[in-house]
Amino acid sequence: MIPIIFHWIVLDLGCGPGLYVKKFAETGAKVKGIDLSQRSIDYANRYIKAGHENIYFTRMNYLDIDYAESFDIATLIFYDFCALNSTEQNRLLDKIHRSLKSNGVFVFDVVTVNRESSESTSISIRESGFWSPDPYVEIMNTFIYEKPRTEGTQYTIIAEDGSINIIRLYHRLFEMAEVQKLLNDHHFKVENIYNNLKGEPLTENSETYGVIARKAKKL
Ligand SMILES: C[S@@+](CC[C@H](N)C(=O)[O-])C[C@H]1O[C@@H](n2cnc3c(N)ncnc32)[C@H](O)[C@@H]1O
Repeated sequence: MIPIIFHWIVLDLGCGPGLYVKKFAETGAKVKGIDLSQRSIDYANRYIKAGHENIYFTRMNYLDIDYAESFDIATLIFYDFCALNSTEQNRLLDKIHRSLKSNGVFVFDVVTVNRESSESTSISIRESGFWSPDPYVEIMNTFIYEKPRTEGTQYTIIAEDGSINIIRLYHRLFEMAEVQKLLNDHHFKVENIYNNLKGEPLTENSETYGVIARKAKKL
């Protein structure tokens, strides 16, 4: 979709274990991966960086990046943008704008209002699973909030010893016009919106958008 050119310098925000960093680096691009999780950075340094001179990993909060005109492309992959509140979204877009070279490109994905599910509760008993290798009960509550439209999922995890963990995940659900306005307000020009970052074409019911936005000059 956006071919990563071999001499490009790429910034992958929230790189996690570095799966995409590796793919970008294999084209010959120089890639910097940033993640808040020390565990992910340790994994990435151990299993992804090995043998690649053109890969760098740093543990840091991407809301604190302070690069100027340094990257040809910045990526934020797997709907991370939707987990940020509006203040954080604005801050991150300003920082990314500054970190890109003139004409640089920001590539990211969001969840759309079409993905909205209804408010619900479900209970399951698991021998082991995503939240624990040991048996647990999972109570999942889904909530929908308005202004801005947001889906909240609360997982209540009850272990065999009765201990309880509550995890809350939020996804801001975007309309196309909101994505476009947000990017325009931050001096990006939307070049393309796809169904996802694989570059599949949009449909009326797209539940995600893969967005390509180019840095524009501040007037
Ligand atoms: C959904 S995962 C996506 C990982 C990777 N982009 C992928 O698609 O495989 C989100 C990642 O963003 C990281 N993350 C979340 N907030 C962050 C922040 N403020 N600064 C840096 N990394 C952050 C998390 O630690 C996690 O590894």
